[in-house]
Amino acid sequence: MALPSPEREQWSSRLGFVLAAAGSAIGLGNIWRFPFKAGDNGGGAFVLIYLTCLVLLCVPYLFAELALGRNGKRNPVGAIRAIDARSPWPLVGGLCVVAGLAILSYYAVVAGWAVGYVLRDLVAAGAPDAVFARVIADPLWVVPLFGGFLFATAGVVAGGVRRGIERWAKILMPVLFVLLCLIIFRSVTLPGAGAGLDFYLTPDFSKVSGLVVVEALGQAFFSLSLGMGTMITYGSYLPDDENLIVSGGYVAAFDTLIALMAGLMIFPAVFAMGQNPAEGPSLVFVVLPDVFGAMPLGSFVGTLFFLLLAIAAFTSGISLLEVFVSYLVDETPWSRRAAAWGAGGIAFALGLPSALSQGAVPALSDLSWLVGDRFFGPSPGVLDVMDFLWGSVALVLSAALLSLFVGWVWGADEALTELRSGTGHTVGRVAGPVWCAAIKYAFPITILAVLVIDLLYDVL
Ligand code: PHE
Repeated sequence: MALPSPEREQWSSRLGFVLAAAGSAIGLGNIWRFPFKAGDNGGGAFVLIYLTCLVLLCVPYLFAELALGRNGKRNPVGAIRAIDARSPWPLVGGLCVVAGLAILSYYAVVAGWAVGYVLRDLVAAGAPDAVFARVIADPLWVVPLFGGFLFATAGVVAGGVRRGIERWAKILMPVLFVLLCLIIFRSVTLPGAGAGLDFYLTPDFSKVSGLVVVEALGQAFFSLSLGMGTMITYGSYLPDDENLIVSGGYVAAFDTLIALMAGLMIFPAVFAMGQNPAEGPSLVFVVLPDVFGAMPLGSFVGTLFFLLLAIAAFTSGISLLEVFVSYLVDETPWSRRAAAWGAGGIAFALGLPSALSQGAVPALSDLSWLVGDRFFGPSPGVLDVMDFLWGSVALVLSAALLSLFVGWVWGADEALTELRSGTGHTVGRVAGPVWCAAIKYAFPITILAVLVIDLLYDVL
């Protein structure tokens, strides 16, 4: 096994790791994607299915990623190579590293919109949806916002694990929590908010189909930042005596708590203002500004909301960049600084077409001549195509392969030993074998089934 280089950094404490990893997990996925998926798929029923998938499949798999990272004390490629160097398996780590950067490239575009909203709210008035359409179509807004977001991300990552990532997570995560509580308070005290709470908290099983289960699983998975090497990388900075089960458990619990709270923030306001909860991806960027526009203290709450969204995206963006940077630092002579700025620059170049695809450059806004409209919906732009290829397909594929690697090549028993080290006691006699079975069979089979069903559904 490769030994970690002596100067490799570690988190300063469990709290530092938990906040950084929760910062990765809590992102646009919780605050933008989760509420609209729940709104589209039957509210409370979706939430119940989401929780089931999370506990039965995603959390066990989260433990596998953390164990793999800590065992190798390396980036995803190095962590796999530490176990099996003479096979093509390290390529799966390579897929994670590349996909992390590709996801960051368009994630930063959406994050830039949120930042734009914070600024725009302060300087300009106008119908909110019109403002949004203008902001995302105007290259003079979009490119600096997107570039600025990546610049700040690279700056934090260049600072290192403790003095960059951990320090900022410790500042930003509490701010995020306070903002969320403030907005929830405003939302649930609006007259008519009760209908939103009913919708969100009362399961309507008539809306549940097989596809809803697929959606819920995909969401749980994306939300925990799985399949992307982030948890392998963050796990690689954990000391050997850290209890992975407890600290991983905290990360999952915070992520879930914030997603559930995001629903509590959004639905009461949407219902109180007479809007439709099943508006899809535009729920946050188009419907909510309308909601804010109509409610007392709305423009202030709106600014807070987009600040919240930007912070959540920022700590996730940091983790996406860190995967690539840890690869460069471990495997090449590059210094962390050079790696962070270089990787940030590549993400910028990769993301430009996505940034310009929302109306700025018409040729990038509709790629149906190239990719058809079966997989990507009607008139897909570069951003939609990137999200589908990397955010859906690559992510799920690499997770399935990684769990096969952990379960069969490394060996579930070996992985379990790593998982147990630092717990101070053995994982229960029942829990151990159940976890092994989840990693060897249940997780890869289900997640591959999800991929196939998703693709078939798009084709048929
Ligand atoms: N978990 C993040 C979110 O919920 C997204 C993400 C995925 C971040 C993969 C890093 C890696 O928005």
